[in-house]
Amino acid sequence: MLYQTLNNGVEMPMLGYGVFQTPPDETERCVTQALEVGYRLIDTAQAYGNEEGVGAGVRASGLPREDVFITSKIWVASMSYERATASIDESLRKLGTDYIDLMLLHQAMGDYPGAYRAMEEAYRAGKLRAIGVSNFYPERLIDVALLAEVPPAVNQIETHPFRQQDAAHEVMAELGVVHEAWAPFAEGQNNIFANPVLTEIGEKYGKKPGQVILRALMQKGVVVIPKSVRRERMEENFDVFDFELSAQDLATFTALDDGSLPRIFDHYDPKTVMWLLRDYVKNAQLNGGTLY
Ligand SMILES: NC(=O)c1ccc[n+]([C@@H]2O[C@H](COP(=O)([O-])OP(=O)(O)OC[C@H]3O[C@@H](n4cnc5c(N)ncnc54)[C@H](OP(=O)(O)O)[C@@H]3O)[C@@H](O)[C@H]2O)c1
Repeated sequence: MLYQTLNNGVEMPMLGYGVFQTPPDETERCVTQALEVGYRLIDTAQAYGNEEGVGAGVRASGLPREDVFITSKIWVASMSYERATASIDESLRKLGTDYIDLMLLHQAMGDYPGAYRAMEEAYRAGKLRAIGVSNFYPERLIDVALLAEVPPAVNQIETHPFRQQDAAHEVMAELGVVHEAWAPFAEGQNNIFANPVLTEIGEKYGKKPGQVILRALMQKGVVVIPKSVRRERMEENFDVFDFELSAQDLATFTALDDGSLPRIFDHYDPKTVMWLLRDYVKNAQLNGGTLY
């Protein structure tokens, strides 16, 4: 396993296992298998509805709690100081643990400064070992990184061969924030597992396109959290520690990003923003209409 050292000294595995869209009733089985395969980082979120399954899987694995790095994320509906505070305790209860290794704000929406303060407080209380953000593009990330008392350790953003986020990565590196990739396989879009460039690179090392992606991103300093509900794919995605791409192959990989689509969630598209904010607005209306 390769590790990134976070800005507070916590060690984070560079290859983890994601459970977005994993059905709650399958999550325990998936997480148990992933831990058997060797993964030691599990990435969930309040919005995925499967934190209970993650906790059950970690317990069923028989591994000591401290051997597994658990990430969760505070959803938009809880973006205020009070709601985030309550939601952290709810995540701890659902996961069945007394600390979470990394808690992220899922989106830069609503009263996220208030929610960030709730994370800082839970961090100081020992409920969270590290805190960070997700989907914070440079302008918002700089704001939090420079103004928070506990600067974010990680920013988890959409990152895959077609959208490698090199410019955002530079900003993160300057701020001491670890870049974590969500959807490293672009959720299978663009026929990614049959991409001819990735296939050709992989043939040199006896590896498949997906393995080339994970290795290349890690070599670029990015933490990756591929998702698969199938054990054979969990194994394939974990088998990336016995080869290293040459500088030339890494440059060829980097050139796959031509700055174009696909974007899975486009945070610059007003329709996406309105859709993501729907739970926050609903919650605000239920609470007497106060938005912040
Ligand atoms: N912070 C955020 O806003 C955010 C957003 C999205 C995702 N995430 C996190 O990032 C994690 C990964 O992203 P993702 O789940 O969206 O997408 P992804 O990992 O890019 O792709 C997952 C898809 O690829 C398939 N797959 C996995 N390994 C494969 C292989 N070796 N060969 C062929 N197909 C394979 C999976 O199918 P099967 O499962 O059927 O194998 C699934 O359809 C999530 O699980 C979540 O933890 C975070």
